[in-house]
Amino acid sequence: MTDMKNDLILRTLRGEAVERTPVWMMRQAGRYLPEYMVLRQKYGFFERCQTPALAAEITIQPVDIVGVDAAILFSDILVIPQAMGLEVQMVESRGPLLPEPIKTEADFNRIRVPDTDETLGYVFDAIKLIKQELNGRVPLIGFAGAPWTILCYMVQGKGSKTFDEAKIFCYTQPALAHKLLQMITDTTIAYLKGQVKAGADVIQIFDSWGGLLGPEDFENISLRYIRQIVEALKDEALTIIFAKGAWHSLESMAATGAHGLGIDWCIKPQLARQFAGNNVTLQGNFDPAKLLSPIPVIKAEVKNMLKAFGPGRHIANLGHGILPNVPVDHARAFVDAVKEA
Ligand code: CP3
Repeated sequence: MTDMKNDLILRTLRGEAVERTPVWMMRQAGRYLPEYMVLRQKYGFFERCQTPALAAEITIQPVDIVGVDAAILFSDILVIPQAMGLEVQMVESRGPLLPEPIKTEADFNRIRVPDTDETLGYVFDAIKLIKQELNGRVPLIGFAGAPWTILCYMVQGKGSKTFDEAKIFCYTQPALAHKLLQMITDTTIAYLKGQVKAGADVIQIFDSWGGLLGPEDFENISLRYIRQIVEALKDEALTIIFAKGAWHSLESMAATGAHGLGIDWCIKPQLARQFAGNNVTLQGNFDPAKLLSPIPVIKAEVKNMLKAFGPGRHIANLGHGILPNVPVDHARAFVDAVKEA
């Protein structure tokens, strides 16, 4: 084991004292970085994910270029439907496309709970390489999508503002929906255990579309499965749940025993803290679009954000992924403003 030179995020998640608030950015490895765009021109999206040397290089780019306190594995949440047997394409400027989505019981013949070493071994190889190359500079965050968010893509077949077809599937064929959610959950638990075994220090669960569900449906369709994942992992790794828009369920998310909860910019940090209680670290919640403001404005707004969270049990982050049109020096100004505070 290499010892961790910068373990601010690990200590913050454990509720230990830290010298300053740690910072990273969701989707920090990506299109706003010219160094990423060079590799993007040469290799296909899943080729970048499946080649450990490329995944490692892309993962480490933001550590070197913007100075974040953690690396996050370069991969995608949609490698899970792929491993389960569905075709997933990443279409230029349009996003993910699953040409043969799940709609009926017969479609289950095309999917399975796979052996994750066989289907996703390339991710574990990438993690081992990243850990070697990071050499303890910062911790590595592994991740997966929440089962509900994965179902959204497996049923809808593409991105959507409402994911109405995914919802209709859940509301009109609940037995099938729960069967699918449990298959995704079982695959995800094996996958995340593999990530931890390979060396991931923290695991974040992205429920990007959790906010599309009302509180009761969120509990039944999403949190119930997230809870299984957290319970399977929380003794082996530090865990963060990011369920965008699901602020109404912060209390029940805290009760899962997750170490951290991500929040977006539509809830005040003070209110999130009231809902979540004092035994969990909050992560967030800068509006990603504000990174397009002039740098002095970014710096002032970061100060306001840090003040609103107060000291301790906070990881500074955006409230959702960084946008591709953010200038690199603005991303760096965000990170520096947290470090200077
Ligand atoms: O955060 C990181 O830097 C690590 C890598 C990462 C990617 N996707 C790489 C990626 C992570 C953590 C994800 C998670 C992900 N993928 C989510 C959850 C987080 C969120 O933003 O809500 C979701 C919903 C997806 C599905 C997905 N993948 C979409 C909708 C898209 C297209 C839209 C977009 O943001 O580009 C992707 C493609 C994708 N995943 C890219 C990257 C760097 C862009 C691909 C490219 O054009 O190069």
